[in-house]
Amino acid sequence: MLKMKNLKIHITLLIGLSIFTLSQCKPEPKEVTPPSSIGTPAPITPPVGFPAMNIPADNPQTVEGVELGRHLFYDKKLSADLTISCASCHEQFRAFSDVDQLSTGVDGKIGRRQAMALFNLVFQEEFFWDGRSKSLEEQSLHPIIDPVEMANDLPTVIRRLEADSLYPSMFKAAFGDTKINEERIGKAIAQFERTMISANSEFDRVKRLSGNIDAPFIEDPNTPGSKNNGFLIFNSERADCFHCHSVDKDGAYLGGGFGQDLQFLNNGLKMDYSNDEGRKEETGLASDWGKFKVPSVRNVEKSFPYMHDGSITNLDSLIGFYNFGGFDNGNTDPNMKFAGDDKGTRNFTQQEILDLKEFLKTLTDYEFLEDPRFSDPFEK
Ligand code: HEC
Ligand code: HEC
Repeated sequence: MLKMKNLKIHITLLIGLSIFTLSQCKPEPKEVTPPSSIGTPAPITPPVGFPAMNIPADNPQTVEGVELGRHLFYDKKLSADLTISCASCHEQFRAFSDVDQLSTGVDGKIGRRQAMALFNLVFQEEFFWDGRSKSLEEQSLHPIIDPVEMANDLPTVIRRLEADSLYPSMFKAAFGDTKINEERIGKAIAQFERTMISANSEFDRVKRLSGNIDAPFIEDPNTPGSKNNGFLIFNSERADCFHCHSVDKDGAYLGGGFGQDLQFLNNGLKMDYSNDEGRKEETGLASDWGKFKVPSVRNVEKSFPYMHDGSITNLDSLIGFYNFGGFDNGNTDPNMKFAGDDKGTRNFTQQEILDLKEFLKTLTDYEFLEDPRFSDPFEK
């Protein structure tokens, strides 16, 4: 209470001061109310063993900011014809991914890539399959204006939100006044996305939280595959999954652009990438041809279809692809080319395929997929 009162006095003083002095004298840096004093702080605690978080100093997490971001994420007002929200392509029970091979935007327009699963973004630094966006604040404005996604323009979105019965007060609670602009839209969505942490799969409970990567899973007698054998295969030189979707000693990473991962790689998915060159489109480097962000294998059971072009429809075909070993397209990563029989072919037995699949399912985090904090606030 005392704090609020002080804040009010502070703001009044500041406004008074600026009216008096106009632009003649710059206020002392100390006088500027830092954004952190607005809203109720809602710090994120990283799960044990996870890497450092990436939260910009000028966008601290607050209860009000996160709630605003959640509303924006689920609001179809962001799209030109009011039919599409972020959640239309990023569905919670699919780990915020999309069942369509390629995402469908306003007017049924089809994009050229598969919607990415969204979780553990707070630990990452580069976004999109080619990494062209460097912050979540910046990223979240892209789909709004993308002609094959929400096909809108920011002035229209801002006008709609200003006219809404909900948003002006929500922006005030999150940012100190009712002003709505693109910076604040981006910041609020980013705050919501940073809370979307997935770290409570069976894998986490058995291995990461026990602090013992060798701790065994309890096998399910009703399934034909073995989780424990599957984990050994995932981490074997023969299958070589771990080289790209890394499992660190604490078992936290498992891919997804985390610090220690090689972020962009060419896994030999295709022979010809001329209709989507991936990372090369961002860097211009020939060596980046056909490289795409290494996605996390967490929640993979739910995030089908797979790959940047959504060309792999289910877990069986996924394992089938890696078993075949991918194409030698000239830029295929050595960890694909020389896995298995040194030509990339893994020659998994039928049992090994079942085992690998059973292990991948231990990465499903049901708590995350059903967490009410990430659900549609308009369906309360
Ligand atoms: C029409 C479908 C569609 C809509 C609507 C959509 N997205 Fe996406 N999203 C995608 C696709 C496709 C990609 C990958 C695009 C690429 O790599 O060029 C993506 C990628 C992302 C990523 C990058 C994830 C990563 O790991 O790098 C984030 C974050 C994201 N979207 C958030 C949002 C937000 C926030 C909204 C709403 C403002 C939104 N998306 C609306 C389809 C969509
Ligand atoms: C050379 C590095 C490399 C190796 C080895 C590798 N992967 Fe991948 N993986 C990638 C890259 C890169 C992508 C994305 C490629 C694309 O979209 O074009 C990917 C995509 C995936 C996806 C799709 C996830 C999604 O959300 O679309 C899954 C699942 C996966 N890999 C599992 C595995 C398994 C299991 C193994 C071992 C049998 C393995 N990977 C071996 C680099 C690798």
